[in-house]
Amino acid sequence: MRNQGMLRDDALEGKVIAITGGGTGLGRSMGEYFLSLGARLAICGRREEVLQKAAAEMKEKSGQDVFYQSCDVRRYEEVEAFRDGALAHFGQVDVLLNNAAGNFISPTEKLSPGAFDAVIDIVLKGTKNATLAFGKHWIAQAEKPRTVLNIVTTYASTGSAFVVPSAMAKAGVTAMTRSLAVEWARHGIRFNAIAPGPFPTEGAWSRLLPGDMGERLKVENQVPLKRAGERQELANLAAYLVSDFAEYMNGEVVTIDGGEWLLGAGQMNFLEAIDDKTWEWIAQATRNAKK
Ligand code: HXC
Ligand code: NAP
Repeated sequence: MRNQGMLRDDALEGKVIAITGGGTGLGRSMGEYFLSLGARLAICGRREEVLQKAAAEMKEKSGQDVFYQSCDVRRYEEVEAFRDGALAHFGQVDVLLNNAAGNFISPTEKLSPGAFDAVIDIVLKGTKNATLAFGKHWIAQAEKPRTVLNIVTTYASTGSAFVVPSAMAKAGVTAMTRSLAVEWARHGIRFNAIAPGPFPTEGAWSRLLPGDMGERLKVENQVPLKRAGERQELANLAAYLVSDFAEYMNGEVVTIDGGEWLLGAGQMNFLEAIDDKTWEWIAQATRNAKK
């Protein structure tokens, strides 16, 4: 089931969906599923050739229209130009998926101020830029409901060592999601977020688990379900949240991580390491505590 599309074929019929970072990784996978449900896409990223190739392949596979325009989300004017390009092409944009991100692992004291900013500017400022650019347009032309979906991380809530700029920025995006869910509801704009656990992509793995770190550290062992996420599982959730089936979902941050963050959180979770024989001994020893 986890590799199958969940929604009915026309679930996103008539919608135009803008995806930042839509040419690679999870943004592309979500976009491909949206296309199969009848949506048209506008994708952006910094690398024109990546976008061009992705758009051509996605069009070919789906038979649906995919517009692309290179844009650095850190620059507000470029985001506005992307928005205007998409509007000129389609005449409308109904959904914004803030997916673009930058990240890498590093001890925080080793980061230069510029390295810190590189991540914060893409994730926090970039999401702000896209939300403001599309939001201003939507509010000026408030004729129908629109929605924003932000991709955050589970450590936006818990914090995490060694990815501090990303954790700070994603926490800010989470705060924006919940704040604007209330403030812009009167303009018919819904806001939700997804906090994914590990979903292997070239972009993330090359920066978070470079070389053979992934094999050596066995990320799956951090997940109670003992596996990474499948992209279709994320795409199913994203498609639901941006669809009109989710019209009453607003201000929610949905975690899809196989229970990963809770494994690190529960005080007694370390007991996972205990084998059956030891559990038999524990059962007796804890009963004996009554005596
Ligand atoms: C330390 C680094 C660094 C590294 C760059 N810098 N990489 N410092 N360790 N690995 C420093 C540079 O020396 C420079 O410092 C500053 O950061 C800016 O670097 P640039 O290369 O000029 O930046 P830029 O070209 O803007 O690239 C941004 C980037 C890059 C974030 C550094 O990795 C990128 O483009 N990433 C986009 C894609 C991505 O990261 N995808 C993964 C998302 S995964 P000075 O001092 O010279 O300014 C994700 C998952 C989270 O978010 C959850 C997983 C479970
Ligand atoms: P990815 O393939 O590296 O995706 C990042 C995308 O953002 C790329 O297409 C990149 O394109 C674009 N981007 C980066 N900086 C940009 C900028 N300044 N302007 C415009 N676009 C920019 O990684 P991914 O794993 O699919 O990540 C997608 C999202 O999922 C991110 O928000 C990430 O934080 C989140 N996430 C991923 C995981 C995971 O396990 N993979 C887990 C939790 C959350 P260019 O480089 O061409 O600009």
